[in-house]
Amino acid sequence: MWLDIANRYIEEAGLNNQVQTICGKALESLVPLIEFEKGTFDFIFIDADKANLIEYYQQCKRLLKSGGCIAIDNTLWWGNVADESFNDKDTHIVRQLNTLIHQDQEVDVSLLSIGDGLTLIRKK
Ligand SMILES: C[S@@+](CC[C@H](N)C(=O)[O-])C[C@H]1O[C@@H](n2cnc3c(N)ncnc32)[C@H](O)[C@@H]1O
Repeated sequence: MWLDIANRYIEEAGLNNQVQTICGKALESLVPLIEFEKGTFDFIFIDADKANLIEYYQQCKRLLKSGGCIAIDNTLWWGNVADESFNDKDTHIVRQLNTLIHQDQEVDVSLLSIGDGLTLIRKK
């Protein structure tokens, strides 16, 4: 399992006391974290299912400290977001997310055309 590989390298690097791995549905893991670690994260990488993308962004923003960054992968969705002929659910959600982030006054944002789009967000 991928988590076993990650844990092996974390142990080899002597980072057991600094790194905690959590395996599970992302929203179920995120929500309890917020209770105790709201506003403490320096960096968050979002790269899971698209169905919950907007919720991931909103919850991760709560975890982030001021000046912290979120990176979100696949924000151009292989170019589909700019092609009106694509109207599937995932494309629609990625478009919605991009609009939400663009209008969010609480963050600075840059969408990089690396791969199929990587959005960098810095919380003000
Ligand atoms: C594109 S892969 C990302 C892989 C990883 N970021 C990497 O670079 O190796 C998407 C991952 O999201 C996971 N995933 C899908 N739905 C999820 C959910 N609701 N909660 C947590 N992870 C989920 C999938 O199992 C898959 O491993």
